[in-house]
Amino acid sequence: MKILNKQIIKDVAGVKIKQLDIFSPDIAANAQPGQFVMLMASENGERIPLTLVNTDKIKGTLSLIFQEAGFTTQSLGRLNPGDSLYSLVGPLGHPTEIKKYGKIILVGGGVGIAEILPVARALKKAGLPAGQAGNHITTILGSRNKDLLILEAELKSASDQIYIMTDDGSYGRKGFTTDMLKELLSKDKYDLIYSVGPIPMMKMVAGISKEYQIKTLVSSNALMVDATGMCGCCRVSVFGEVKFSCVDGPDFDGHGVDWEELEKRNKVYSVQEKHICNLKKNNGDGSIFPRV
Ligand SMILES: Cc1cc2nc3c(=O)[nH]c(=O)nc-3n(C[C@H](O)[C@H](O)[C@H](O)COP(=O)(O)OP(=O)(O)OC[C@H]3O[C@@H](n4cnc5c(N)ncnc54)[C@H](O)[C@@H]3O)c2cc1C
Ligand code: FES
Repeated sequence: MKILNKQIIKDVAGVKIKQLDIFSPDIAANAQPGQFVMLMASENGERIPLTLVNTDKIKGTLSLIFQEAGFTTQSLGRLNPGDSLYSLVGPLGHPTEIKKYGKIILVGGGVGIAEILPVARALKKAGLPAGQAGNHITTILGSRNKDLLILEAELKSASDQIYIMTDDGSYGRKGFTTDMLKELLSKDKYDLIYSVGPIPMMKMVAGISKEYQIKTLVSSNALMVDATGMCGCCRVSVFGEVKFSCVDGPDFDGHGVDWEELEKRNKVYSVQEKHICNLKKNNGDGSIFPRV
């Protein structure tokens, strides 16, 4: 659980995205694309889920890439090489189903781009051991502007074609990932779409691909507490059935996800999160009990 390396991937306009390489041979040995870990940065901290972006089974290391969103990810971002995480559990969740599909479109937005990288690499290779060609990968990456785009080179080498979309047109094409998705689907046939990013983006991707009846997997970013299927916090309705994102997911068929419910559930603690974040900041030690 020792941090070996730390890289600041982005620190622009208030957006901080960092990578930590962590020594954890057991998790690295068993990890598969699409799985995640649950970690605590400190003894008083919360448990948060982060995707296993890269693993080196020989060196026994794993890499996590995270955006500083609130208190826990900010605390994690303050750790340095030589420090250890308080706890780290994984690999968790079902791996993404890696097989030969044919033509695939990957759609990544914001820090979700980091989460599609391991899946892109595995899908590109799928089929190769049998001497066949791997899947044909078309990747669409989206960010607000050029400065916030991450992992372009890495995804380029895992893709046959790549398209960059920025909200302000400062790089690639101006527009959303879903604009490019619509364009591609109107011109060609695809066998699978895999998408990770903000909920509104995944919801739109699923809405568009449904018209073309293309299987669409999304990595649901439901709130998690225990990540063992016991607390029920990460409930997602898929085709009207209750699923737990941590043990049944995190990948689900995007055409069946009740997006409105997922959006609502993910905001359910936002008021408390703000309050707790302030208490932790005031106390300075991560504890949440008001001091008098
Ligand atoms: C399976 C899975 C994989 C993920 N992988 C990554 C990743 O690779 N990189 C990355 O940057 N982020 C990832 N996330 C999201 C990450 O867990 C949240 O950004 C983090 O928990 C925020 O915690 P915080 O205390 O810093 O922020 P908070 O202030 O607590 O919350 C900020 C926002 O983060 C989300 N969030 C908060 N707590 C949780 C929680 N326990 N579980 C899930 N979401 C939460 C909420 O939407 C909230 O509005 C993943 C989430 C899931 C479910
Ligand atoms: S996080 Fe508790 S059931 Fe999934």
